Amino acid sequence: MTSRGSAPPSLPRHVAIIMDGNGRWANLRGLPRVEGHRMGVRAVRAVVECARELRISCLTLYAFSLENWGRPEPEVLALMTLLKEFLVSELSLLLRHRIRLRVIGETSSLPFAVRKVLERTVSATAGNTEMTLTLGLSYAGRNEIVRAARRLAAEAAEGKIAPEEITEEMFSARLDTAGTPDPDLVIRTSGELRISNFLLWQSAYAEFAFTDVLWPDFGKAEFLQALEEYSRRHRRFGLTGEQAAKLPGK
Ligand code: FPP
Repeated sequence: MTSRGSAPPSLPRHVAIIMDGNGRWANLRGLPRVEGHRMGVRAVRAVVECARELRISCLTLYAFSLENWGRPEPEVLALMTLLKEFLVSELSLLLRHRIRLRVIGETSSLPFAVRKVLERTVSATAGNTEMTLTLGLSYAGRNEIVRAARRLAAEAAEGKIAPEEITEEMFSARLDTAGTPDPDLVIRTSGELRISNFLLWQSAYAEFAFTDVLWPDFGKAEFLQALEEYSRRHRRFGLTGEQAAKLPGK
C-alpha cells in the first residue's frame, strides 16, 4: 500500500457509488451492452484499490438493483456471470488488502451459483478489518425499508418490543446495512441526477457528487476529484455553521 499521497485532507469514512453508464459507454463504441459491464468491472477493481489505498473504511457499490431484474434476460445473465467471475478472481485481492465483503439486498432472488460464491467470499473475508466493501445486489432502498419494518412488526407482534419504544437506531439495526456507518459521500456517474432507490434511509445527511463520466471511464483521477469536492463541503446536519464546527471530528 502506498501512503495517502495527494489525497484530500478531509476524507469520508463511507463512500457509496451508483455506477451508471455502462450501456451508453458500449453504445458509443458500437459494442454490445455487456462489453460496457465488462469494462465496468475493471473500474470496480480500480476504485476498490484506490479506496483501500486511501484508507477509506467503507465502500458500497450499487451493482444490481431489484429493478434491474426487468432487463432483457441475456443482460441479466451476463451481469450474474460477471459478478461470479469477479468474486472468484478478486478473492486474492480482498484477502491481500484485508477487505471484508458484505452484501445488501434481497439476495434470496440471486441464482444459486451466485449465492454460493457470495457466501464463500463473505465468510472467507469475514475477519478482515481494514475496509468493508459492500455490494448492493438485488437491492432497492424501499424494499430494504419494508423488510426492516416487517422485522420490527414481527418483534412487536411477539411482544419482544413495544411499538412506542421503536427508535431510529432500532430501525437502522434491522436494515441490511446494520453496523455500517451511514454514507458520507454518494457518487453517481453518467450525468444522471437521481438517487434511484439507493440507500434511501442511510443517505439522509450524505453529500452528493455527480459526474458526467460514464462508469467504465471512472478511475482514480475521477475518484480523487469527488473526494476533493467532498473535502470542500460544509456539513451542518441541520445545525448552524458555528454549532457544526464544534461537532466531533471537525
Ligand atoms: C448501470 O449502467 C450499471 C449496472 C446496472 C450494473 C453495474 C455493474 C457493474 C459495474 C459490473 C458488475 C459489478 C461487479 C461488482 C462485479 P447501465 O447499464 O444502466 O448503463 P446505461 O444507463 O448507460 O444503460
